[in-house]
Amino acid sequence: MVNTRIKGDIFLKKVKRNNHKLLLFMVMVSMFVLGACGSSEKDAGKENETTDQESSGEKYVIGFSQVGAESEWRTANTKSIQNAITDAGHELKFSDAQQKQENQIKAIRSFIAQKVDAIVFSPVVETGFETVLQEAKDADIPVFLSDRSVDIDDDSLWVTFLGSDFIEEGEKAANWLIEEMADVDGDINIVELQGTVGSAPAIDRKKGFEDVLAEHSKFKIIKSQTGDFTRADGKEVMEAFLKSDGDNIDVLYAHNDDMAIGAIQAIEEYGLVPAEDIIIIGVDAVKGAFEAMAAGKMNVTVECNPLFGPQLVKLIEKHLSGEDIEKRIAVEEDMYTMDQAEELLPTREY
Ligand code: AHR
Repeated sequence: MVNTRIKGDIFLKKVKRNNHKLLLFMVMVSMFVLGACGSSEKDAGKENETTDQESSGEKYVIGFSQVGAESEWRTANTKSIQNAITDAGHELKFSDAQQKQENQIKAIRSFIAQKVDAIVFSPVVETGFETVLQEAKDADIPVFLSDRSVDIDDDSLWVTFLGSDFIEEGEKAANWLIEEMADVDGDINIVELQGTVGSAPAIDRKKGFEDVLAEHSKFKIIKSQTGDFTRADGKEVMEAFLKSDGDNIDVLYAHNDDMAIGAIQAIEEYGLVPAEDIIIIGVDAVKGAFEAMAAGKMNVTVECNPLFGPQLVKLIEKHLSGEDIEKRIAVEEDMYTMDQAEELLPTREY
């Protein structure tokens, strides 16, 4: 059922689909005529009914190349996409790149060799994927960019990009800080924990934040280094920041909550009080951040919603059935502060 292969040409696909249905019909008729409708076949029929109810149309084979499992956000995103694919009755081929570009290139090549119907791809970094995406295009396999985009001029190499606006997230963080510190005179020293070097969220969250602060000279980014989006690296880099700049740090801007949470631990071990001695800003709005905020250890988190699996699967189905879809679809997001955390924590989904 799952193996119907879509090859660019919609007409051919429809013919193929009709042939497939005809074949299925003939098989069912012969089974009936031969009186072969025993209990196991009845069960198989039931299985088909259920699958048909779950998703209206064709079943596809979908390859999903994920960045890794570096953060709470990523785990939630992986689950959302995996569940949406399988719940809709499609076959999933999953590959975890462990934050390495070469693993993603290998995974995409393997999806191409397996002739999947579509590829979902969340790139570790923005550059260096032209060749492999061209190979997917040559094989008529549509690629859906999920969460992160690529920095490639030829946008015919992917169908759509569904994900957050990372620049806007950086801007939101900066605007919150400007308002929060409106009454403070003198320099405000910021340390920044960047995400994975070369990744879209690291580049854009930095840009959005810096661009807004550029018009406010009292804000100084005194240190900026990557923590690779992980708690462990966030903690280690924050320890180094504290060692060199200690009591001089007023604000921590972390490109994700996991690094902020790691840094909070470093700040406590250093003997300072997070969210009081140092203002803590994170991005993602994961449960861990809500717990830290409810405990009074983190000030704010900018939402980056990972739960777009169902929306992504609908887009894939639409495209494969010949419908037009938009080239860029942004996920709607909010922002949460410490005083909202206790109330919202019990209902937080990720
Ligand atoms: O691309 C989204 C980012 O990647 C999330 O903010 C971060 O937590 C993740 O690892």
